[in-house]
Amino acid sequence: MSRRNLTFVCQSCGAAAARWQGKCEACGEWNTLVEEGDGSGIGARPAGPGRAPRKGRKFVLEPLTGDSQDAPRLPSGMAELDRVTGGGFVRGSVLLLGGDPGIGKSTLLIQAAAALARGGHRSVYISGEEAVAQVRMRAERLGLADAPVELAAETSVEDIIATLSEGKTPRLVIIDSIQTMWTDAVESAPGTVTQVRGSAQNLIRFAKRSGAAVILVGHVTKDGQIAGPRVVEHMVDAVLSFEGEGSHQFRILRAVKNRFGPTDEIGVFEMTGLGLREVANPSELFLSERDLGSPGTAVFAGIEGTRPLLVEIQALVAPSSLGTPRRAVVGWDSSRLSMVLAVLEAHCGIKLGGHDVYLNVAGGLRIVEPAADLAAAAALVSSLANAPLPADAVYFGEVSLSGAVRPVAQAGARLKEAQKLGFARAVAPETARSEAPGQGFTMNPVEALVNLVSDIASRGEKSPGNQRRRPPEDG
Ligand code: TYD
Ligand code: MG
Repeated sequence: MSRRNLTFVCQSCGAAAARWQGKCEACGEWNTLVEEGDGSGIGARPAGPGRAPRKGRKFVLEPLTGDSQDAPRLPSGMAELDRVTGGGFVRGSVLLLGGDPGIGKSTLLIQAAAALARGGHRSVYISGEEAVAQVRMRAERLGLADAPVELAAETSVEDIIATLSEGKTPRLVIIDSIQTMWTDAVESAPGTVTQVRGSAQNLIRFAKRSGAAVILVGHVTKDGQIAGPRVVEHMVDAVLSFEGEGSHQFRILRAVKNRFGPTDEIGVFEMTGLGLREVANPSELFLSERDLGSPGTAVFAGIEGTRPLLVEIQALVAPSSLGTPRRAVVGWDSSRLSMVLAVLEAHCGIKLGGHDVYLNVAGGLRIVEPAADLAAAAALVSSLANAPLPADAVYFGEVSLSGAVRPVAQAGARLKEAQKLGFARAVAPETARSEAPGQGFTMNPVEALVNLVSDIASRGEKSPGNQRRRPPEDG
């Protein structure tokens, strides 16, 4: 007799345990172990006396080279989406799209499905969360009702696969969401890690077998992880995350993992009353609400993937009334902020121990590049000195622990984008000088952070902005 001896499964990492424990030994999370009907494995079928051991089937081994029929990639026609996937959906691949509830995942996918369907490709949208009428209503609102997308509200993976295996293979199948799917192969309740994993496994097998590109929508938990199993992330070919600040209309699509393309590209969208609009020139968007002439803002000339992106960094440094001053950062790494603050204290004579420090990247963008150090430092010092930075300047450069400003990659592309958007000078590492876009563009090279600090401080003493905290918009 086979005995099910592993019945508790961690809902965070998918590890199985024999007994209930408060803490998962595999991932260290607390209170994540849940009893599940069958924790014996992925999409497992109960092995038992009724099942005769199967004799292995022989298969053909293939060489690396070979002709693959049909275009292996299918561009969606939405340039920002294709940029992130690396040129379109790959045949037989499975993509997981994660994001907060209400961020616009369903909207993005119905738009992509409609675009493909209009291009003559069979695309199927399976909703496990909404009724067909609701999906239709959204499509109508987006002006997509005429697109020949095939719709269903279903949650049984077996039924879905049986339906899709009939007729012409769909090029795109959207499963919204994986957490609502369930498979007969495992006994647990829908939504549990074993079900999600089993369902995903079956859908992945279907994708590989049929050549359809399958997109799974995944919910994200409060702490930003795709809910339920991290294991699904390992199983799929690509993981995209759809992000945005609730109060902003900007949405950013980012590849977290991509077996067939880059992971550093971002796609930028704007949520409008008519669905998601692609933003081809994000710099213009991120700079559109600039607060010109006020202290504490610096424009960072960044690179996202292969695309230069200008974005405003805002800082507020104010005397603190707390014993331990506050450090808050949105859109940037907080340990990076601590490092820049430490360098300012140690090498530039700026004492911030009695100040609250807030740093914000405008527009809800999240920056990961170390090249933003210099712009962040400039914004911080500008706020502290109450000295507005020149409105026509961009900043980039990595700051080392010694206070030196270090070169960064793709300076030329950053400078060209700055010039294109009407900026006339760049405060940047010395090495960037050789890549200056030429005529009418001034390079202000800085070797050490302390030079920049004294520069800004002297502006502060002269600046009329020091008397009037907020100069008029046109000033
Ligand atoms: P939705 O795609 O349902 O989000 P998700 O699937 O990620 O949960 O999008 C829901 C939000 O988007 C909702 O708050 C309303 C907003 N929205 C618009 O602003 N414009 C639109 O055209 C649509 C369809 C939605
Ligand atoms: Mg949805």
